[in-house]
Amino acid sequence: MDGFARNLLHWFDGHGRTQLPWRRERSAYRVWLSEIMLQQTQVATVIPYYERFLVRFPDVRALAAAQLNEVLALWAGLGYYARGRNLHRCAQVVVRAHGGEFPREIDVLTALPGIGRSTAGAILAFSCEQRHPILDGNVRRVLSRYHAVEGPPTARAVEGRLWELAALHTPAARVADYTQAIMDLGAMVCTRARPHCRSCPLAMDCRAHHDGAVDRYPGSRARRQAPVRSRCFLIVRRDSGHILLEARPPTGLWGGLWSLPETDTCAAAETWCAAHALPVRRSTSWEVMRHTFSHFHLDMHPLLLEIETSPQAVMDADRWLWYKDGDAIEVGLPAPVRRLLDRLDAQGSPETPDDPHRALRKTRQDR
Ligand code: ADE
Repeated sequence: MDGFARNLLHWFDGHGRTQLPWRRERSAYRVWLSEIMLQQTQVATVIPYYERFLVRFPDVRALAAAQLNEVLALWAGLGYYARGRNLHRCAQVVVRAHGGEFPREIDVLTALPGIGRSTAGAILAFSCEQRHPILDGNVRRVLSRYHAVEGPPTARAVEGRLWELAALHTPAARVADYTQAIMDLGAMVCTRARPHCRSCPLAMDCRAHHDGAVDRYPGSRARRQAPVRSRCFLIVRRDSGHILLEARPPTGLWGGLWSLPETDTCAAAETWCAAHALPVRRSTSWEVMRHTFSHFHLDMHPLLLEIETSPQAVMDADRWLWYKDGDAIEVGLPAPVRRLLDRLDAQGSPETPDDPHRALRKTRQDR
């Protein structure tokens, strides 16, 4: 074991996060579930999702047998929904092609949906103490500082170098603890902004620290400004309080979730309602709400449309749903749509505009 791993493990024994729920029982299923959830989401957010998932799907067979809708409903709010869809597909492949046991060969594991090289390494290290390096965002930061690796960590040559270093430091003994330790160090000490070098067990030999240049690593890629897209979100509400939801296509943004119908602009909402035989009694536009995805900002313009009691519209039940909070059915809603519906609940019946058609007119002018 090299000095890097020894110092890191010594620190971990005193300061590591040993109470994380996925550290208690390390079956491949539990480790896999936690690692997928943690791929782009913080520990504190993941914990309640992880626990709810395990109650509903205690093993891979239960997950594989579930409807995708139910899986996505439990995933709703974690974001990056492709992970939820891959999770379900992966469970089905494990049951069908591997007899319900996660494979223990790294290449076979990496071939499963949603499992990349780093996640596969972590699963095998945590669940069966196999020695494999990992390279997630935290580990990239620790290694690029410790070795003063120049250049953006996603550039191919830099990435290759970081994998070599990750493999070099990964010890043969206590590999699960080491793997958790390097993640914990990145999350708690070697943080992106204002790292705590004074309490870092690796500071003595850290080149970036020696050079007084921790901020230089990891190098940043030239970021383009994220573009802004704008859409109108229609909150079509019946007197009974039911809201019209539309199923998103199975792949792509919010794929497979239920969401509000959308139009390009709020000015187009009137035509949309007419085309769907939804007679609007009153419309109220709400403040724009910005939601930021990994690669763009979405400016959501909510428009509450109160419609006459019994719409004549004939709507395909697979694609459309009249939904009311408290309905027995589980629906997976994207987090910002959930917030809009919560706001609707909180304010009860929104205040009456002076002129029932004001909002639509206003948005028309805004065009
Ligand atoms: N991020 C990815 N895997 C993790 C783990 N096992 N513990 C904490 N954060 C993580």
